[in-house]
Amino acid sequence: MENADWIAKGANAEDWLISSTRGEVVSCTAFTITTEQGSDIPAREAMLDRAMGQQRRRKSSEKLRRGRMPSAGLAFIARDAAGVVIGTVRLWDVTLGEGGAKALLLGPLAVEPSQKGAGVGSALMRHAIAEAARLGHGAILLVGDAPYYARFGFSAAKTGSLAMPGPYELHRFLALELVEGALNDACGVLKPAGRKMKTTRVKLVA
Ligand SMILES: CC(C)(COP(=O)(O)OP(=O)(O)OC[C@H]1O[C@@H](n2cnc3c(N)ncnc32)[C@H](O)[C@@H]1OP(=O)(O)O)[C@@H](O)C(=O)NCCC(=O)NCCS
Repeated sequence: MENADWIAKGANAEDWLISSTRGEVVSCTAFTITTEQGSDIPAREAMLDRAMGQQRRRKSSEKLRRGRMPSAGLAFIARDAAGVVIGTVRLWDVTLGEGGAKALLLGPLAVEPSQKGAGVGSALMRHAIAEAARLGHGAILLVGDAPYYARFGFSAAKTGSLAMPGPYELHRFLALELVEGALNDACGVLKPAGRKMKTTRVKLVA
């Protein structure tokens, strides 16, 4: 198994208890988190449509992702025991204002609707945050539900002088510093800074 891969167990430790009287596993939610591969993309896209609907493509975050690759080593997939994609999270390189400091934008985070509440989203978040810190990134920003992301340390405390390049709700614009003070002087509109996707040139024959 690669460094970035690990096996997570269900959110509840008791899911893994073996009945002392019957000697059998009561229930079990197992999933693996791996670095995303190119072959995962069709399954990931179909799952995102099921989890978030078609309107996901109209989000402001999409302006920072379109035509770009995720930040190196920071796209992850969760799979169930059968290898089926049941979760995704990706992080993207941005700059904080024109020529500003570098940071990461997280999203989308999504879990297969039938697998919600089993700890997959939390495991993806914790893995993504740990890997981003290990790779030396200073801060992660996202637009999302504060009651969910607060458990990972995200808040709107340091995003007041920053802005997304499109409509968004201020109270949903959140950040987590991986390096203390990384967002202290940050201001301005987020700009895309990721590696550009290669475009395939079609040679026209007259
Ligand atoms: C949000 C999402 C990624 C959470 O993944 P998950 O695997 O179901 O979450 P977990 O099992 O790790 O955590 C479940 C906990 O999060 C809470 N939670 C889930 N979504 C929440 C939300 N939008 N706001 C607040 N709490 C939320 C659950 O109530 C539960 O709380 P508990 O631990 O106190 O019981 C998943 O529900 C999803 O894919 N939603 C649709 C896509 C989406 O909206 N993504 C962006 C999120 S802002």
